[in-house]
Amino acid sequence: MSEKRLAIVTGGARGIGRAIVLELLGQGREVVAMDILPEPLEELQNVVKEAGFTVITKCLDITDTEKLTSTIAELAKEHGGIGILVNNAGITRDKLMMQMDASDFDSVISVNLKAAFMAIQASLRSMIRNKFGRIINISSVAGVMGQAGSANYSASKAGLIGVAKSVAREVGKKNVTANCIAPGFIETDMTKILPQPVKDAAKQVIPVKRFGAPEDIAKAVAFLTRDDAGYITGQVLCVDGGMAM
Ligand code: NAI
Repeated sequence: MSEKRLAIVTGGARGIGRAIVLELLGQGREVVAMDILPEPLEELQNVVKEAGFTVITKCLDITDTEKLTSTIAELAKEHGGIGILVNNAGITRDKLMMQMDASDFDSVISVNLKAAFMAIQASLRSMIRNKFGRIINISSVAGVMGQAGSANYSASKAGLIGVAKSVAREVGKKNVTANCIAPGFIETDMTKILPQPVKDAAKQVIPVKRFGAPEDIAKAVAFLTRDDAGYITGQVLCVDGGMAM
């Protein structure tokens, strides 16, 4: 019963992660929303309950490696393994290269890349055992093209691509796939804080001339989690209105 395979979505409380949680629930999956923010998680739980579904929530900081890996191990034990892992949680600490210090670099790498690596490692054993796994890293067009003012973020997002491609090569024969989605400009809390001139400039370079919605990313993730998407692995799918082509 593939739909019974547990799906974990990091950063699932709001924005793109939340849309992914709702999309996977709508497909009948059992879903865990993991996030550091207690209130949005609680709100998500209420929304899901009102819609007649249930979501498992785990409130934790994914940079707490011990907590992250023990939580995933417990979930795997309770649910007969992890079927789907969406590494979506991410932060920005944008600064120009000359102003960026080591802590700006370390904090972004730690949330965006190291935690994703640890979550994959913690999930992989049960995926291999069950001969089914769908790992999806939420990268960014910044990881594909680079982005001025985001050397730390772009490095973390390019790193997610390297991790996914390596995992794809290691465990492909076990029916475990690893892919990346690279969103372009998506309207969420992360992009809301950007200055208007930056938003105007971004729109100019998007062929479809509009920003994306979290649901645009969620639909692409859902496609890659399907049983019949097993021949797609090691890929980077840009969901960006044509921005990075
Ligand atoms: P968001 O800021 O709205 O959501 C990120 C979520 O991750 C939040 O719920 C946050 O609490 C959670 N999170 C952050 N640090 C955490 C930690 N240490 N432990 C647990 N949870 C943590 O951002 P948005 O826009 O929804 O982005 C989701 C992903 O998509 C991120 O990885 C982001 O880099 C990526 N992305 C977003 C784009 C956009 O235009 N919004 C463009 C390209 C990529």
